[in-house]
Amino acid sequence: MGKHILVLSCSPRKGGNSDTICDRFIEGARSAGHEVEKIHFKDKRINYCTGCGLCHNRAGHCSQKDDMTEILARMVAADVIVMATPIYFYSVSGQMKTLIDRACARYTEIVGKEFYFIMTAADGRPAAMDRALEAFRGFTDCLTDARECGVIRGTGLWGVKDATRSAVLKEAYEMGAAVK
Ligand SMILES: Cc1cc2nc3c(=O)[nH]c(=O)nc-3n(C[C@H](O)[C@H](O)[C@H](O)COP(=O)(O)O)c2cc1C
Repeated sequence: MGKHILVLSCSPRKGGNSDTICDRFIEGARSAGHEVEKIHFKDKRINYCTGCGLCHNRAGHCSQKDDMTEILARMVAADVIVMATPIYFYSVSGQMKTLIDRACARYTEIVGKEFYFIMTAADGRPAAMDRALEAFRGFTDCLTDARECGVIRGTGLWGVKDATRSAVLKEAYEMGAAVK
């Protein structure tokens, strides 16, 4: 039976490099019989975590009522979570960090998931993504039984459509198709 894959695309540029790579990953995953849902940050209203602490006292409850309620429900339900970000000053985008911080309300319920990370940068060096990868791992290290299954580093991508000419799309398709 296919898995349920949730793709969280967190560039402010819809149809940009990381989002395009997500779409190729999704094509591959669907070809292998998986069910995929992509959520783009730009389509959602997601406020910053306020650090109010309500979720510590009432597990699962966030004081804010915005689209993160639905996204957290999807994260808890998914088998596989794909997180995609552009590199901004050698870390993840503010959008991605905001989403990660808002997972605070239910992160203890995000258990046994497989994770894939997609990153894009203008820099041509794969190591340019090491800090962002550590930021992702800072999140997944807080989860129970999270398994990192794949990392895509889209290097040398500056212009909004640069990924369409990159070999990274083939890599993304194959990684999606290889989800077991
Ligand atoms: C605010 C900002 C900061 C950026 N910082 C970096 C950086 O530190 N290193 C880098 O190689 N590229 C940097 N870039 C370029 C983006 O990472 C690159 O264009 C990426 O492919 C964008 O992906 P997207 O189309 O999915 O948004 C930055 C771009 C912006 C807008």
